[in-house]
Amino acid sequence: MAIVAPSILSADFANIQRDVEMINSSNADWFHIDVMDGVFVPNISFGFPVLKAIQKHAKKPLDVHLMIVEPEKYFQEFKNAGAEILSVHIEACTHLHRSIQQIKSLGIKAGVALNPHTPILFLKEIIADIDLVCVMSVNPGFGGQSFIENTYLKIKELKNLISEKNSSALIEIDGGVSLSNYKKLIDCGADVLVAGNTVFSSSNPVQTILELKNV
Ligand code: DX5
Ligand code: ZN
Repeated sequence: MAIVAPSILSADFANIQRDVEMINSSNADWFHIDVMDGVFVPNISFGFPVLKAIQKHAKKPLDVHLMIVEPEKYFQEFKNAGAEILSVHIEACTHLHRSIQQIKSLGIKAGVALNPHTPILFLKEIIADIDLVCVMSVNPGFGGQSFIENTYLKIKELKNLISEKNSSALIEIDGGVSLSNYKKLIDCGADVLVAGNTVFSSSNPVQTILELKNV
């Protein structure tokens, strides 16, 4: 059974407390929180005030996905805003090893996110040090995009790298996860499913989350 992390990006921000409570009351495991800066990705989402509002009501871990340049400037502040898992993009970190150590020194879990064009091989020297790999299955920046099929191959390659290096990293799939592809993703080796549009555009989000849990 996968860990299911609904993506708040698709929530109704005018009713954020209601949507957070819906996730609290569901079988979801984590909140997935997308932070975008308009530089690393061509979109701006939200920052600390919104994150703190979510933190106030959330009863499950906050899995924070940073789509920003120079993320290391804000690690402490993201921890203060409730991040329990903090992922940075490999493409945004010149000194990725240092960034990962900085996140871990705050006592929270460290993840690395990969754009669709970035080879799994680039994780070779860091995979043993990280808790999660966020495999982007769309180009980051927007919810509701369609799933890139090459992701299945990347998951299998990543699974091999993880066992070869004795890593305990979880494989998270982010973008275009739906009721028609989640089973195949789990079969390929996915541990965590992020779902924005699939959950929030559903007429019964709690039931959709249950289905993603494969119950
Ligand atoms: C995209 C974000 C995703 C997004 C997924 O840049 O990282 O987390 O919210 O949304 P869906 O599930 O709608 O593709
Ligand atoms: Zn994300």
